Amino acid sequence: MRGYLNENQELELLSALDSRAVSPLKFAYVGDGYRRWIEIAEKSRSEHSIQFEENLLKTESLPYMLREVDSDVDTVNIVDFGCGDGIPMIPVLEFLRTKATVRYIPVDISPKMLDEAEKNLTERFPDVQIIKVLFDFEKGEILEQILKLTKEKRTKNYFFLLGNTLGNFENTEKILTDIKLSMFPNDTLIIGNQISNLLASQKFIEYYRTEEVFNLVSATLKGYDMDCSFEEYSVRWNRNLKQIEMVLTMNSDKAINIAGHRVEFEKGEEILLAISKKFAEETIVETFNNIGFRIDFFTANKRKNACIVSVTPTRYKS
Ligand SMILES: C[S@@+](CC[C@H](N)C(=O)[O-])C[C@H]1O[C@@H](n2cnc3c(N)ncnc32)[C@H](O)[C@@H]1O
Repeated sequence: MRGYLNENQELELLSALDSRAVSPLKFAYVGDGYRRWIEIAEKSRSEHSIQFEENLLKTESLPYMLREVDSDVDTVNIVDFGCGDGIPMIPVLEFLRTKATVRYIPVDISPKMLDEAEKNLTERFPDVQIIKVLFDFEKGEILEQILKLTKEKRTKNYFFLLGNTLGNFENTEKILTDIKLSMFPNDTLIIGNQISNLLASQKFIEYYRTEEVFNLVSATLKGYDMDCSFEEYSVRWNRNLKQIEMVLTMNSDKAINIAGHRVEFEKGEEILLAISKKFAEETIVETFNNIGFRIDFFTANKRKNACIVSVTPTRYKS
């Protein structure tokens, strides 16, 4: 990990660990954790699990969600927040291929993820222009670079947040509000997320209690030479916050050195490695409305465990 995070990110990690005993998941993707994420995604795609359900649903919904790409539109910007390996964008670019000039704008905290997405999509879509944006979207700044590209004439802009990423942030509403800062009223945001029966928490716990997930969520600490074993890892359901919590409980006294500082943890102490908030169908809709997004389209799969939502910014909150 050393060498992957920049100076400010190291200080942010130090402060999170020292003052809150939290290891922010986003930093795992910056280091070697990006490989661990690709392993999870590939397994999930080949086993046709939740990731696949989202993909099917998205592909089926594209003709409706992208219906405004007509002969008046010359260019379509696809802004992909948290692009991962870019594979979920294949059906989107395939659909648009013959309809307009497409510009793919992946936005990610991880340079490795941006490169991976670029590699995967350039091979398949040599005509698509790719503009990578390295950015931590928890920072809440307006992305001027995106505003400039998306304000051009005869251009239609679609923003995507796929792969159940929305649930990984401590403050969901803040993330959505920040994304809205970079959007114009005619832009569309498309989200792919799990939806859950919040009474069936045991089912989610099993999904997260695997070696693959552990390898991802512990990647940051391991990158700073802290030994973490699977036996120290547990997953629990926080009923009040409606979130899965992935936790490391020290089996001995330990220390970690970051940015020249040493943080000590006693045997039995916990570090929160990641959270995954779970949304019921009605809470996801309510969240968008509260922030000032109007829902254009909502669809869920038959098993009611994945949804695709398409929203546009509105000045009027309900
Ligand atoms: C769960 S993966 C989803 C990847 C992809 N969208 C998919 O559907 O497979 C989350 C992605 O978001 C990125 N990410 C997480 N936190 C971020 C942040 N604060 N700022 C920018 N990117 C972030 C990660 O690097 C990773 O590529």
